[in-house]
Amino acid sequence: MERENFGNRFGVLVAMAGSAIGLGNLWRFPYLVGSYGGAAFIFVYIFCVFLLCLPILFSEVIIGRRSHANAYGAFKKLAPGTKWKWLGVASVITPIIVVSYYSVIGGWSLEYFFKSCMFEFTEGATQAELGSMFDKFITSVWPPLVGHTIFLLLTGLVIIAGVKSGIEKFGKIMMPMLFVLIIVMAVRSITLPGAMDGLVYLFKPDFSKIDGEVCSAALGQAFFSLSLGVGTMLTYGSYIKKDENIAASSSYTAVSDFIFALIASCAILPAVFAFGLNPQEGPGLVFQTLPFIFSNMPMGGFIAIIFFLALIVAAITSSISLYEVGVAYLVEERHVSRKKASVIVFAVAWLIGALCSLSFGPLSDIKIFGQTIFNFFDKLSANFLMTIGGFLMVVFVGWKMSKSDVFDEFTNSGTLSANKRIFKFVYFMIRYVCPIAVLMIFLSGLLF
Ligand code: PHE
Repeated sequence: MERENFGNRFGVLVAMAGSAIGLGNLWRFPYLVGSYGGAAFIFVYIFCVFLLCLPILFSEVIIGRRSHANAYGAFKKLAPGTKWKWLGVASVITPIIVVSYYSVIGGWSLEYFFKSCMFEFTEGATQAELGSMFDKFITSVWPPLVGHTIFLLLTGLVIIAGVKSGIEKFGKIMMPMLFVLIIVMAVRSITLPGAMDGLVYLFKPDFSKIDGEVCSAALGQAFFSLSLGVGTMLTYGSYIKKDENIAASSSYTAVSDFIFALIASCAILPAVFAFGLNPQEGPGLVFQTLPFIFSNMPMGGFIAIIFFLALIVAAITSSISLYEVGVAYLVEERHVSRKKASVIVFAVAWLIGALCSLSFGPLSDIKIFGQTIFNFFDKLSANFLMTIGGFLMVVFVGWKMSKSDVFDEFTNSGTLSANKRIFKFVYFMIRYVCPIAVLMIFLSGLLF
């Protein structure tokens, strides 16, 4: 059967950027910036993204395009009869785990979008009221399950439509819209009286705040935000045509992911400062602190709708990329139809996600290694499977693939002169610097 490809360069970019830009940018990045000292964290983050993680992104995309196969098939093809196939196995299982709990948060975003359309964040609501609204919601049984189900269904529908007419087309409409939405919100936020303090916090670094913990948080976030180590960028790479410049597409992806994270921080933190709230709010920032701000700021009802719509769009384009890994595997290795594959992935992800969702309420007493089910899957994948996956992929490209194959992919057989010039440096990063850096995040993740 003919494999599908992305149609053109813009299609590749919206798909890859769609995967990268997600809850990580709108939810995780701003609260990490808030918790780890503002500009100093951003400063370290820039190094992590462009120096350490970009070569890893190149590596994943190289494996994908070289093999033109799904995450499992890629290792079977490039290293037949070796233990590398286990990396393929992990690269198919991990994204299914991630999409399961990711879609739980996607479901929360749907619910909050709905609440904002109903103008439920009423004027003058207190923080305590909105906090208990959130607690009541996530600990209940049905509403979060319904959200999870709808979110996963929407993802599955785009996947069934195919690579070009599903993933690519959806991205081409949604990604530009996402940028417009978040820019509107950023403009509102930085024009609030008192927002200046927030901007200073974001852009004036206090270097004394940088320590080991900040570095490892920044590297971990860069990893998550660029969707590394779980086979998604590998799978997308396999849909990139031979004449596309993968180094350029990967670099644009990293740049847009970073710019989006910055704009998202401008949309959120200045408003937090304008209301005299604590930026170190942690994970509750988006679902508790922001609704309080929306309830109390001019035009807040309207901005709430914009924000939660952005959150859904960002989350869905990322969950599509996670979902596609399992579907590509089933279609190519198990020879089932795309539709059937989508249903199978839906069933598995729905079940794991449902357990994660219930672990905030009725199943909160069930602990795996001392963690609730949601936290267990979150930590297992973010601190363990993703990092080991990323480490092994970069080692695979640096040490297992031949240098000439890597060169061929990176420079389109020597025809891209700019890529030729930077190849030596990139290859050095891939062979030595990146594996060591990733090993460090992994070990520090075990320590904290
Ligand atoms: N990069 C996505 C985000 O920032 C999350 C993600 C991780 C998506 C891994 C795909 C693979 O939200």
